[in-house]
Amino acid sequence: MSISKEVKKVTTHTLKNMKASGEKISMITAYDYSFARIFDHAGIDIILVGDSASNVMAGNETTLPITLDHMIYHAQSVLRGIDRCFVVVDLPFGSYQSNSDIALASAIRIMKETGAHAIKLEGGEEVIDSVKRIVSAGIPVMGHLGLTPQSIYKFGTYSVRAKEDAEANKLRKDVKFLEKAGCFAIVLEKIPADLAKEVTRELKIPTIGIGAGGDCDGQVLVMHDLLGINTEFKPRFLRQYLNMNEQITGAVRQYISDVKSKDFPNKNEQY
Ligand code: KIV
Repeated sequence: MSISKEVKKVTTHTLKNMKASGEKISMITAYDYSFARIFDHAGIDIILVGDSASNVMAGNETTLPITLDHMIYHAQSVLRGIDRCFVVVDLPFGSYQSNSDIALASAIRIMKETGAHAIKLEGGEEVIDSVKRIVSAGIPVMGHLGLTPQSIYKFGTYSVRAKEDAEANKLRKDVKFLEKAGCFAIVLEKIPADLAKEVTRELKIPTIGIGAGGDCDGQVLVMHDLLGINTEFKPRFLRQYLNMNEQITGAVRQYISDVKSKDFPNKNEQY
């Protein structure tokens, strides 16, 4: 007799119910099989295959250079590592801004070639046609407002967005546009906590904050920041749970020293 190991998978319905019941949503980025597997087993609700891969995996200064093919490679690796969590993949810069035909084609490629559960794109009213067409094709869409890193050259800095009335009012309208167009959730990045609280209260779909305070329905962090792999990035909103940079440096220094001193490998570590 085979014992069935039913895994309760996270879906868009789970996320909606979590908002309704007040249970906070946990989201983390991942870009490869091994970390995705650890995060899934740890019980994370959502893995985001973020275009922050451009920064933390490829070493670029911005998210602009990463391509759709690169994102598909990362997403395929992540999907092989998960059993239960919900996986969202970023549409990279240039793969959706031109028109809704291109946006839909990019979203379909991600879903078909990776097995992802949803896509994320940045922007509000200006991307609404694309959101509607992608949702109509049966693909769940996560929005992203506030500090949208694909527009860094328009903003000029990575500082807090929507502090002024005009930008805050645009964000208030954009969250409504995205909800009406069918988004199942919206990331709010680096905006004042009071504004995030207000729009979270107004929406039926969950908000996931990064630097947007504790009243969002969930939180997201880039794995390299949370684990202390990349220690140069220390914004106020970040809580660093490990110092992997220090731990890995120590382990590799010990390995180098053991090789040089001929301590490694010893008799038990050979055939
Ligand atoms: O690409 C990314 O990692 C993101 C998060 C910062 C939300 O979009």
